[in-house]
Amino acid sequence: MNNPQLSLSTVANQLVAPSKGILAADESTGTMTKRLDAIHVESTLENRNKWREIMMTSTGVESYISGVILYDETLRTPTLGGVKLQDLFQSKKIHIGIKVDGGTVKLPGLGEEVFIQGLDKLGKRLLEYKELGATFTKWRAVYSVGENMPSDAVITGNSIALAQYAALVQEAGLVPIVEPEILVLTGSHTIETSKEITKKVLTDVFRWLKEFKVDLKGMLLKPNMVLPGKEHLAMTSADDIAKFTVETLLATVPPEVPGMVFLSGGLNPDQSTEYLAKMNQLYAGKLPWQLSYSYGRALQQEGLQAWSGKQENVTTAQKVFLDRAKKVSQARSGKI
Ligand code: G3H
Repeated sequence: MNNPQLSLSTVANQLVAPSKGILAADESTGTMTKRLDAIHVESTLENRNKWREIMMTSTGVESYISGVILYDETLRTPTLGGVKLQDLFQSKKIHIGIKVDGGTVKLPGLGEEVFIQGLDKLGKRLLEYKELGATFTKWRAVYSVGENMPSDAVITGNSIALAQYAALVQEAGLVPIVEPEILVLTGSHTIETSKEITKKVLTDVFRWLKEFKVDLKGMLLKPNMVLPGKEHLAMTSADDIAKFTVETLLATVPPEVPGMVFLSGGLNPDQSTEYLAKMNQLYAGKLPWQLSYSYGRALQQEGLQAWSGKQENVTTAQKVFLDRAKKVSQARSGKI
């Protein structure tokens, strides 16, 4: 839906419209290769795009999906399912998004922690993406949890990069999704520690978004849910996860932001659906922003498995993918 008349805030609100959310199909080639390896499918451009085509040509996908985040190679694909990519999205009234960060880089002296590259010549790339039909973008910063992690250097460095990215994206007339992903499932910490770290990171991110004069009404936040490290997850109730997550967001995210589009971050499809539903159930009508989704694995995993690279499985794969999309969509209104 590339309509130059739409304001940033209109696009942001359309992306989090009731019962809809975002499909994150922006896996880099390396990540997509891992996903295809797991189903014993060779990672060729043709196979990577075939899977994206299967999802996007599922009948009725537009009932659950407001926007799809693509990776550069997909946005440059002329046709999906025999139809011009831009026309396919336009016909379904689905916004085209594009991942614009350039992946992680390690810095000497900072151990395992990583920074994100990609600000160089970003303005020029954005104009090209806009020309190709994009209306929104995503930049993912990543933070590890552990002894002295995330460090102040990583927190501040990422906040400034996210803010510069968001300001450049808005200047180009696109909606930025700001994604500070804390790898909360990795480690043996408690949910309290996860809350404390998420709060610290989000407070800093919004401090810098304001410093760089980012229009909060014309952006979306893609946060992690507040979870304990994996070994404690089974003992933590969905109620607690919902409460810890929403309390953290209420303490840090200004009301002007139209919505949260959670990442699934290694939760399985059922967990991702249940926790989102629980938040929407417990806080119905009480929050200033929408609680929605921008899931990658949680939306794709089951369909990808059902496809397994075989043409005869395409119809079943589309059904499995749509079933999950419907469940996640219903989680927007608190249904599990
Ligand atoms: O940046 C992260 C992806 O867009 C979301 O992926 O839902 O598999 O964590 P995920």
